[in-house]
Amino acid sequence: MKKRVFSGIQPTGNTHIGNYLGAIKQWVASQAEYDNIFCIVDLHAITVLQDPKLLKSQTRELAGLLFAAGIDPEQSVLFAQSHISAHAELAWILNCLSPMGWMQRMTQFKEKADKQKEQVSVGLFTYPALMAADIVLYDTDLVPVGEDQKQHLEYTRDLVQRVNSLYGDDTLKMPTPSIPQVGARVMGLDDPTKKMSKSEDKPNHAVNLLDPPKVILKKIKRATTDSLRDIRFDPERPGVYNLLSIYQGFTGQSQAKIESHFEGKGYGDLKKELGEVVVEGLKPIQTRYAELTADPACLDSLLAQNADKIRPIAERTLKRVQEKVGLG
Ligand code: AMP
Ligand code: TRP
Repeated sequence: MKKRVFSGIQPTGNTHIGNYLGAIKQWVASQAEYDNIFCIVDLHAITVLQDPKLLKSQTRELAGLLFAAGIDPEQSVLFAQSHISAHAELAWILNCLSPMGWMQRMTQFKEKADKQKEQVSVGLFTYPALMAADIVLYDTDLVPVGEDQKQHLEYTRDLVQRVNSLYGDDTLKMPTPSIPQVGARVMGLDDPTKKMSKSEDKPNHAVNLLDPPKVILKKIKRATTDSLRDIRFDPERPGVYNLLSIYQGFTGQSQAKIESHFEGKGYGDLKKELGEVVVEGLKPIQTRYAELTADPACLDSLLAQNADKIRPIAERTLKRVQEKVGLG
């Protein structure tokens, strides 16, 4: 029996190289080894107000991007969260079993709430309970995510333990996070002290997976560095460290090899070579994306068929929990 992998990504547009190196690349690389379910989390996306038409088209766009990046429909199931109502139903039960204090500790909520001020929704606050529901519905073993999701995974594990101690150990399966060695936290090109983020609208902040080569080269050329010279993996110098980490993420080379390659070279060379590596790394994804999205109806029906395939697993888990809790 293969282990079950589950992970999710929001269809909020601007999918960037942080999403790729932190999550998507790992999903693709370990597909053959596991039984994989990948979810486009549109219910999570609406925790922030979305334009309805755009949300639909971004869901399709993301499906195209994930298939183009190498998610293989023969080996993995890719579906949209809202197609399986058990996610929202189990999330409600988990909300009720979740102590308020656990939610109040979530740093991602605090950061996002700070940005949105009084517009912030209740859904954004309880977002981690929906994420926990996503994971446990499929009796998941492993959850490959970037580092920013670590706290949500810890919350999920605490919640599983609490639910199992209330209702019995066979209620929910305990998941384990899987965070990559390289690329777990790609930082903004304009400000390497901040995580690369989809919602940052500064023009040189992120390289998006669908950026044309010229744009990629320009953004990397303008990336913030420092006034020193030597090119080393030094976490105290976040700008250069970030560029080198992205280089490592795309080439798969060791830190020592990369440092010796850049010995005696300047930041101009680093940026030029990194730009080329990223352009080349994204080229096959962009080419396949253009082919796949030529027929949007085909992507829509693939997502719907995939949801049909796994809905019984989710419904079985929901029923199990409902019975334990005394519902239905
Ligand atoms: P999101 O776009 O928030 O749905 O994130 C999708 C996946 O990408 C999650 O596994 C995140 O942890 C990962 N991710 C998002 N931003 C970054 C980043 N800057 N560096 C590395 N991984 C990231
Ligand atoms: N919260 C995750 C993010 O923003 C997305 C997500 C939703 C997820 N449900 C999940 C990731 C379940 C892993 C497992 O990145």
